[in-house]
Amino acid sequence: MGVSGNRSSAQALDWWRDAVCYQVYLRSFADGNGDGVGDLAGLHQRLHHLVDLGVDALWVNPWFPSPMVDGGYDVADYRAIDPVFGTLTDARALIEEIHALGLRILIDIVPNHTSSHHPWFREALAGGPDCVGRDRYIFRPGTGPGGDAPPNNWRSVFGGSAWTRIVEPDGRAGPWYLHLFAPEQPDLNWDSRLVRREFESILRFWFDLGVDGIRIDVAHAMVKAPGLPDLGPLDMELVASAAHADHPHWDRDGVHEIFRGWRAVADSYPEPRVFVAEACARNSERLARYVRADELHTAFNFDYLTAPWRAAHLRTAIGSSLTAMGAVGAPATWALSNHDVVRHLTRFGRPQPDGPVHTLANHSPPGPVDLALGTRRARAAALLMLALPGSVYLYQGEELGLWEVEDLPDETLQDPTWERSGRTDRGRDGSRLPMPWSGDAPPFGFSPERAGALPWLPQPPRWKQLTVRSQRGDERSMLELYRRALHIRRIHPALGDGALVWDRTAVPDLLSFTRPSGFQCIVNFGPQAVPLADHREVLLSSVRLQDGLLPGDAAVWLAR
Ligand code: GLC
Repeated sequence: MGVSGNRSSAQALDWWRDAVCYQVYLRSFADGNGDGVGDLAGLHQRLHHLVDLGVDALWVNPWFPSPMVDGGYDVADYRAIDPVFGTLTDARALIEEIHALGLRILIDIVPNHTSSHHPWFREALAGGPDCVGRDRYIFRPGTGPGGDAPPNNWRSVFGGSAWTRIVEPDGRAGPWYLHLFAPEQPDLNWDSRLVRREFESILRFWFDLGVDGIRIDVAHAMVKAPGLPDLGPLDMELVASAAHADHPHWDRDGVHEIFRGWRAVADSYPEPRVFVAEACARNSERLARYVRADELHTAFNFDYLTAPWRAAHLRTAIGSSLTAMGAVGAPATWALSNHDVVRHLTRFGRPQPDGPVHTLANHSPPGPVDLALGTRRARAAALLMLALPGSVYLYQGEELGLWEVEDLPDETLQDPTWERSGRTDRGRDGSRLPMPWSGDAPPFGFSPERAGALPWLPQPPRWKQLTVRSQRGDERSMLELYRRALHIRRIHPALGDGALVWDRTAVPDLLSFTRPSGFQCIVNFGPQAVPLADHREVLLSSVRLQDGLLPGDAAVWLAR
């Protein structure tokens, strides 16, 4: 709950247990200075959108100085703001304004790797073979004749080997360094005490500046198995391979000691700061280990995000998350989209598999998307998600019903995945387009009028119908659905943190649950309309209800 909510937890220190947090993809939220890239000035000017929407907090993707090889997840200086976004003074003013509006702010810290432009990495390269600074990264001699082959078979998430060989200052071929992502993102060595101390100091820097919390990038990757053993055949499927026990670089037990130290830093503030982990673990119980009482506060829920639009799968994902998180006293979190996955409206507009949906662009099944169906399901999905106990992450633009733009011209693509995959995987740009705010044509108010540059990714002209201005006040719009749902969520005593009780239903395509007390959510996944049991007060529905029937792919909130 935000500080302006009226539930008793509104002012409480545990606000994060049921906060609705809006993910601001800074480069694409709003451009204040007309260079075609979103920035702090643009965000500052548009904060009223978030207040109006009714969220409690925002999470801002990395804003640090960066060569932007991976959209800012290649950080060159953890204590400053990239000039393209603004200055530290702008950040201070923004944080103050966010607090004055009754909102909270989380920022994004990238501890698994730095940019290759970080002074530590430059020093490690320039210092030659004996440079002690190399211990902050993971350098290893090559294998095979002349050390020409990489130290092991690990692979980069963006394609190709996870190792790159360096050239020593004297021109000779040197050792290899590890990068689980792009070569411009060398992995840090978390066995180094210096690395550990530095990051605790970075956390304090931002907490002292007033940020309320931190999202931890690839929190499950920081610790590697001693000796860096080869991946086994089961581990080859990159991200999915977090599913395998004892993986050499995903979800190793050693990460928890790091996070216990971070929790102590957060708890040392009079108003404790909070963490959300981007962690992939092989099941909900493993994920719950990240949010034990002395570790992080919450973790993203990828089982929920990747569940297909099917009653049984969603019920299992919801049930297992609530059980696992409940066992350690942590709230569950829910999200449908983020800047790394195909937008859910597009995913839901395709035939639904009988297992987890592949959320990455390269796995998107070919074939047309039914945007009307995707929109209908996205509306129902929003009501389902916002009725669940725990906290929610909304990805910028989902409140407008934006879809994945899958036909961006090749020459505009910027995600490193595109080049690293030999131009076979189009990457994540399709979910990262600049927001449409107003007007009839691109840039739709994203940049100021008479801006010098075009938006950094081209928006589809059809987004004309999806601008904030065109949806505001139209009660059939996605924006108004989100606004009303968030308003009800804020004032209804049954919503937010707490319990959920499944209702017994004879219809397999129906999900129905009660939030004690006084609230019921019903979602119909099937094609047939189903009768609502009795005439309770309808608080909100994703479609127009007629004759007490809930149509297919629709959801309703009832007072009970
Ligand atoms: C996380 C980020 C993603 C980034 C990667 C490497 O998964 O969400 O955008 O590419 O980490 O930092």
